[in-house]
Amino acid sequence: MGRFGDYQNEIYIAGLHGHQPRLPIRFEEMQAKAHAVLPASLVSYVAGGCGNERTQDANVAAFDGWGLVPRMFVGATERDLSIDLFGLKFPTPIFMSPIGVIGLCAQDGHGDLATARAASQTGVPMVASTLTVDPLEDVAKALDPTPGFFQLYTPTDRELAESLVHRAEAAGFKAIVVTLDTWLTGWRPRDLSTASFPQLRGLCLANYFSDPRFRAQLARPPEQDLQAATMQWARVFGNPLTWDDLPWLRSLTRLPLLIKGICHPDDARRAIDGGVDGIYCSNHGGRQANGGLAALDMLPGIVAAAGKVPVLFDSGVRTGTDVIKALAMGAAAVGIGRPYAYGLAVGGVAGIVHVLRCLLAEADLYMAVDGYPRIAELRPDMLRRVAR
Ligand code: FNR
Repeated sequence: MGRFGDYQNEIYIAGLHGHQPRLPIRFEEMQAKAHAVLPASLVSYVAGGCGNERTQDANVAAFDGWGLVPRMFVGATERDLSIDLFGLKFPTPIFMSPIGVIGLCAQDGHGDLATARAASQTGVPMVASTLTVDPLEDVAKALDPTPGFFQLYTPTDRELAESLVHRAEAAGFKAIVVTLDTWLTGWRPRDLSTASFPQLRGLCLANYFSDPRFRAQLARPPEQDLQAATMQWARVFGNPLTWDDLPWLRSLTRLPLLIKGICHPDDARRAIDGGVDGIYCSNHGGRQANGGLAALDMLPGIVAAAGKVPVLFDSGVRTGTDVIKALAMGAAAVGIGRPYAYGLAVGGVAGIVHVLRCLLAEADLYMAVDGYPRIAELRPDMLRRVAR
């Protein structure tokens, strides 16, 4: 992708030839377009959150509470946005957060593959959800050559969990991300109002339906009895893990193990003592609990507790400047969620690539203008609270 900020030159030069951007630049416009093309049940599933959605609004608003102090006479003509994570080098500091049902957001119903292709084209890694339309092996193939991570919703059946992790390893995923905050679903009024929950309709369950352990427990295969298979999925889906389960989780893989949903420094410390390789600070985009605390406000405490262990972050990132602020607070990598789902809905693979390029261009130009050529120079003391 060259220098990320150059995306604006491409756009302006195309304008000289009479071409306006086909895809929206601003998140709000992309969201509005996506809402116009997606079926109503998917709009409520993707856009909706828990309760009256104060947490998801707070996630976004929290970024407005911080500003980066501009530095001059730096001449930041070259910016380095690359990061090292678990021994891998990534060209950018962002990744695509796991989104179950992303499969359904694509016009052709194969959004997991589209996301993987966008990762392949951009070098921005995808964290593939457990809940996909296409099996994880197919997603892994489409990711190549960009490394990807596999996100695990830990089932109550330990053998099924082991099978999923071993399949992810065999498929070439480079880390396992265990999501802790979704062993049951939070109270989501938008979905409740339409009585719609895609998985209960047998959708996005390919990883289960293709799993030998899962299939062995069915009287008839999912192709013959979708309802029974779906009910079996509902029985095994959510495991209310406790600290006693951590040694077992750790034993599942030699790949880097990350835990997602961490918001308290004590939880971060204890998990690191238990052998995890990365902490993923997130409140699931406000979809799970409506406690009102923005994930960004939790990030500095988690970074301090984690020490040298990398902290990944998501929840509320909408712009390139948001990415930079999270990095300045100490995030090792920043997750993009709903923005790429909307890009996919509107423009397929090209739509995701466009969203990622816009975020990266804005981040890159922000670093250029404000005089921060390297991520290491984005430190917490360069951020100031914004008085309201
Ligand atoms: C999610 N998220 C999520 N997380 C996860 O670990 N596994 C999953 O399958 C899903 N599925 C999912 C579906 C949808 C529609 C959304 C919007 C989100 C949470 C996701 O990884 C991330 O934490 C949030 O998207 C971050 O919030 P924002 O920035 O998208 O608001």
